[in-house]
Amino acid sequence: MPTPATIKLNSGYEMPRVGFGLWKVGNDTCADQVYNAIKAGYRLFDGACDYGNEVEAGQGVARAIKEGIVKREELFIVSKLWNTFHEADKVEPIARKQLADWGVDYFDIYYIHFPVALKYVDPAIRYPPGWGSKIEFSNATIQETWKAMESLVDKKLAHSIGISNFSSQSIMDLLRYARIRPAVLQIEHHPYLVQPRLVEYAQKEGIRVTAYSSFGPLSFAEFNMENADNCPRLFDTPTVQQIAAKHGKSAAQVLLRWSTQQDIAVIPKSDKAHRLAENLDVLSWDLEEADLKAITALDRNLRFNDPLNYGMYVPIFY
Ligand SMILES: NC(=O)c1ccc[n+]([C@@H]2O[C@H](COP(=O)([O-])OP(=O)(O)OC[C@H]3O[C@@H](n4cnc5c(N)ncnc54)[C@H](OP(=O)(O)O)[C@@H]3O)[C@@H](O)[C@H]2O)c1
Repeated sequence: MPTPATIKLNSGYEMPRVGFGLWKVGNDTCADQVYNAIKAGYRLFDGACDYGNEVEAGQGVARAIKEGIVKREELFIVSKLWNTFHEADKVEPIARKQLADWGVDYFDIYYIHFPVALKYVDPAIRYPPGWGSKIEFSNATIQETWKAMESLVDKKLAHSIGISNFSSQSIMDLLRYARIRPAVLQIEHHPYLVQPRLVEYAQKEGIRVTAYSSFGPLSFAEFNMENADNCPRLFDTPTVQQIAAKHGKSAAQVLLRWSTQQDIAVIPKSDKAHRLAENLDVLSWDLEEADLKAITALDRNLRFNDPLNYGMYVPIFY
């Protein structure tokens, strides 16, 4: 049965189930890619301060709006609060800067990127600030940060607010004090990292789940990560290959459909124009129950986007 194109959030807004991921999209091509993705039918753009391309992404959006291809209200623009801006008085100024970079006056959702507060870095000195050459923590608690995130909703700077890279334990705590509940949890999620309990818990709490890095190790090949280099590409596993052949779909589509069929949104990134339509077509056809189970059985509890894998001692997932 086809899955609806959007998913209803606890904030009342509708979020597209398939979006375009902006991590590692180059500054030189980003505006064109966003523009072309809009032309291809994408409405959700998953950005972040940390991706360093919000200005260019905004240029792509502006061009599409100017040409009448889409209206702002038909788009779903996503951004994220970086770790160095967790202190209460830093949240709104940086959100306003990011809005200005995009050239929009509200985000459809604004996430806390990681449950990690790092020492403030003035954007005039370094932007995006990244993790820095040495990890220096800030004392900001998630409660302090969440309260500041809630005030972005009050001020209509964000329609919804969300969390990324949070565990069940940290969500459980946040829900004790949240006046506005997180609308979406964005997590690394692919058949090598299924995290069924985390997904189940978020969904039971009415928090929608968005998967990132749906293709597993592929996105991390460039970082020389030992665990990404030492496991087979998900695309090449006989399970995924056979299921793709059976349905006449690509391996990428099978992996994305495996998520969307579990009510999980996806945000694949591609630099290739010919992959745009392919990655978008993951709602209108179905995998069989046995296919879903076979793909889930590939689980290795293998996480790639872990600060430890980049040599930073921030063991948030343990
Ligand atoms: N919240 C967080 O902490 C966090 C962390 C990571 C990512 N994210 C978000 O999630 C998005 C997606 O994750 P990701 O960028 O890590 O990786 P991804 O979408 O899983 O994979 C991207 C890789 O897959 C390739 N690819 C894309 N479509 C393909 C297709 N149809 N067939 C074959 N190869 C294909 C791309 O190559 P080409 O570009 O050459 O096509 C690229 O190498 C990010 O862009 C970002 O917005 C969030």
